[in-house]
Amino acid sequence: MFDLVVKRGRLPDGKVADIGIRGDRIAEVGRIEPSVMEQAGRVIDASGDLVTPPFVDPHFHMDATLSYGLPRVNASGTLLEGIALWGELREIAAVDEMVERALRYCDWAVSMGLLAIRSHVDTSPDHLRGVEAMLEVRRQVAPYIDLQLVAFPQDGLYRTRTGRENLIRALDMGCDVVGGIPHFERTMADGAESVRDVARIAAERGLMLDIHCDETDDPMSRHVETLAAEVTRHGLGGRAAGSHLTSMHSMDNYYVSKLLPLMAESGMTAISNALINITLQGRHDTFPKRRGLTRVREMQAQGITVGWGQDCVMDPWYSLGRACMLDVAFMGLHVAQMTHPQEMERCFRMVTEENARILGLEGYGLKVGDKASLVVLDAGDPTEALRLRPDRLFVISRGKVVAERARNDARLGLPGRPDRVNCRRGG
Ligand code: FE2
Repeated sequence: MFDLVVKRGRLPDGKVADIGIRGDRIAEVGRIEPSVMEQAGRVIDASGDLVTPPFVDPHFHMDATLSYGLPRVNASGTLLEGIALWGELREIAAVDEMVERALRYCDWAVSMGLLAIRSHVDTSPDHLRGVEAMLEVRRQVAPYIDLQLVAFPQDGLYRTRTGRENLIRALDMGCDVVGGIPHFERTMADGAESVRDVARIAAERGLMLDIHCDETDDPMSRHVETLAAEVTRHGLGGRAAGSHLTSMHSMDNYYVSKLLPLMAESGMTAISNALINITLQGRHDTFPKRRGLTRVREMQAQGITVGWGQDCVMDPWYSLGRACMLDVAFMGLHVAQMTHPQEMERCFRMVTEENARILGLEGYGLKVGDKASLVVLDAGDPTEALRLRPDRLFVISRGKVVAERARNDARLGLPGRPDRVNCRRGG
């Protein structure tokens, strides 16, 4: 007896299967007899639809989300003006406001089938209101979203008097992951020392590590080298991630040929935030203008797990976004030129299973025994999902249907367009 059955869906690997759910776990994947299906609490007909494990965002800033225009828009469009604006906003934003904005965003996320998020939380201000707010959000969404919080010293670990102390306080309050921002420290030496410091803190506390690393156009910003070395020294492996890594775009190729094997040896993962970095980076360039994307395919060729992250939605750094990881992958595959069919399928896996690996999610997938969290998409396969970025017909979190939407049949026409177009060319 199943509580819920998703009938005849097409899985990302192309197989067609019935999925039987009991409680919060997947109890059957394969063929479920009609007589058994009849007794299920509910049957969702997913014939011809793509059924996938939920989307996962490995890099986000939930304390800043949905604040676009507060206290004013980012006129230069640069990372540094965004940081300055956020510095003003975090001093005037109340805990309740941040909680309300984040919960609104979590509703968007659920409707988009995005059920696991790693969010960096600014630990720089002594009041730590952002940490307090995000811990409350994590508590409230825990029944349906896996939310990991990174203690993130936005202003630098050493650049302010209490930067390091506040990061430790945030970890003591309950943040899950240790963060850092070496390229923002005062000197290259301070940056390298900050990487050694946060790697040691993560190792001593048995926590994961995820640092904003080399988010700059400076080809000499090479903290990822120190990160790889420290991950190897402490044996952190896949529990450590380097986020952004945009300087790798501009580095000397010979140097990169040494760097990539060091990263692979460490077992660290990498997160590229294409949607944001294509807009933030290269702002000081004339032409040719760099696009600020790290070397995604080149890392993958070395066996390094690389995820696509969203980073921002409507905040001081980015004015658009809608919690859609298919948008993120769509932008990523364009900027990274991953247009081969196998590469497009890889991009879909990057926003699902590879991001889940980066977060270390337990029970993620579509096997018997996995958490019953899945999404039914109005598309036939992963590549079509990327092309159409279609409606999520059903979103199921731990056995419960948390969002559903009437079928638009995106595959039959262009989404959002009428069935008939009453105009004639040249008529
Ligand atoms: Fe970020």
